Amino acid sequence: MNRNIAVDGPAGAGKSTIAKLVAKKLGLVYVDTGAMYRAMGIYFLGLGLSPEDEAGITEACSGADVSIAYENGVQQVYLNGENVTGMLREEAVGNMASRSSVYPPVRKKMTELQRTLASKTAVIMDGRDIGTVVLPDAALKIYLTASVEERARRRYTELLEKGQACDREAIEQDIRERDERDMNRETAPLRQAEDAVLVDATELSIDQVVEKILSLYQEKAG
Ligand code: DC
Repeated sequence: MNRNIAVDGPAGAGKSTIAKLVAKKLGLVYVDTGAMYRAMGIYFLGLGLSPEDEAGITEACSGADVSIAYENGVQQVYLNGENVTGMLREEAVGNMASRSSVYPPVRKKMTELQRTLASKTAVIMDGRDIGTVVLPDAALKIYLTASVEERARRRYTELLEKGQACDREAIEQDIRERDERDMNRETAPLRQAEDAVLVDATELSIDQVVEKILSLYQEKAG
C-alpha cells in the first residue's frame, strides 16, 4: 500500500497547518501544492501578464521551472533557480495563482511535478485536486472544510496578530470569490473525491482535526 495522504479543501480551512503536523507525526514529506501555483503566479506577474490573457499564460508556461527543496524540513520553492518562498503569501500572488490555475496547461505542468514528487517519497499533499486528479490512489483522502465565516474569522485574526491592517468583510468577500473560482473552473475543480472523508473543522481545534486524521490513517493502515 502506498502511504500517501491527499488533503483537499477550500482556502483558509487550515489544510497546511494540519498537514504539516500530520507529516511530522507520520514521517511523511509535506507538499504544499498551492505554493507551486503561487510560484507560477510570480512568474506570470513578473512577465506583466494579465490573468485574463490565456494565450499569453499558455505560451509562457514552458519558460517557468518550478522546483521544491527542503531546508531543515521546511519546503522551499524555487522559480527558475531563485528561491521565491518569501514572496508566496503576497496578496497579488495569491490572486494571480487563483486566476491562472484555471488554465489547463498550468495545471498539467503542476500535476506532473506533483506526481513526480509523490513517486519519490511518501507524502501528505494539500491542494484542491489532489484526491481527485493528482493522487487518485492515495491511501487516505481528506476533504477539509469549514464555514466561510469561520475561515474569514481565522484569517482576520492571523493578519491582526501579524500587525497587518485588514477589513474583515473584504477578507470574507475574497474567500467567497476564491471558492467560486476554485469550485467552478472547468479543469480539475475543487470537489470532494468519492472516497474522501469529509472533515468539517468549523467547530474543531487544530489538535482535534490532527487526531481525527491520524486515527483514520491507522484504520486504513490496518
Ligand atoms: O492553497 P493556496 O491558497 O496557497 O492556493 C493558491 C491558489 O492555487 C488557489 O486559489 C487555487 C490554486 N490551486 C489549485 O488550483 N490547485 C491546487 N492543487 C492548489 C492550489
